[in-house]
Amino acid sequence: MTDKIFQPLPKSYLNIDKATKENGFTMPSDILTCSMLRTLAASKPKSKFLELGTGTGLSTCWILDGMDNDSKIISIDHNKSLLQIAENFLGQDKRLDFVCEDGQTWIKANLKQKFDYIFADTWHGKYLLLDEVLEMVNKGGFYIVDDMLPQANWPEGHQEKAIDFVKKLERRNDIVLTKQHWATGIIIAVKQ
Ligand SMILES: C[S@@+](CC[C@H](N)C(=O)[O-])C[C@H]1O[C@@H](n2cnc3c(N)ncnc32)[C@H](O)[C@@H]1O
Repeated sequence: MTDKIFQPLPKSYLNIDKATKENGFTMPSDILTCSMLRTLAASKPKSKFLELGTGTGLSTCWILDGMDNDSKIISIDHNKSLLQIAENFLGQDKRLDFVCEDGQTWIKANLKQKFDYIFADTWHGKYLLLDEVLEMVNKGGFYIVDDMLPQANWPEGHQEKAIDFVKKLERRNDIVLTKQHWATGIIIAVKQ
């Protein structure tokens, strides 16, 4: 077995990938992570999904590809021009709601919302407002993060933040989690 993906890619993936490269955006989720996101998404029919950090929509298109027709996803980013790329390729999908807002503002205004699947791929919901976002995960729901192994673009001091973040997750008694030394470093947690 190798990591190579032989199953069909999401319809918009190659076009979004091309637009992402043309844009020069350097922080998209990698394809292995995206493939895992799709697989996990397929385990949650009729569910509510949340993505914090849309970027150009690369991870969004894989999550959508795993979701069934009765599910909905909200995806948030504060960068209008990145969101525009995602909107161009995915905006016609009725299951999807893009929100252009600061993560902190959106989370604080939506604390009562509950989700079955949260992919936290920005500051808020991961390094900031973690408790608030974990509170939004339904029992049995996924909380997923990537980029937990040292990355070339990490600023100085980020590694310590990442280590603290993992410790915080491991101290909680309302989730079970698995750390994967694979792709960019993944944590999959499930709310109990
Ligand atoms: C790691 S990237 C997300 C990549 C995306 N999941 C993908 O596959 O392309 C993090 C994103 O967080 C967004 N971001 C950074 N600070 C933010 C904030 N305060 N509020 C909302 N979004 C923010 C950035 O614009 C960036 O697109």
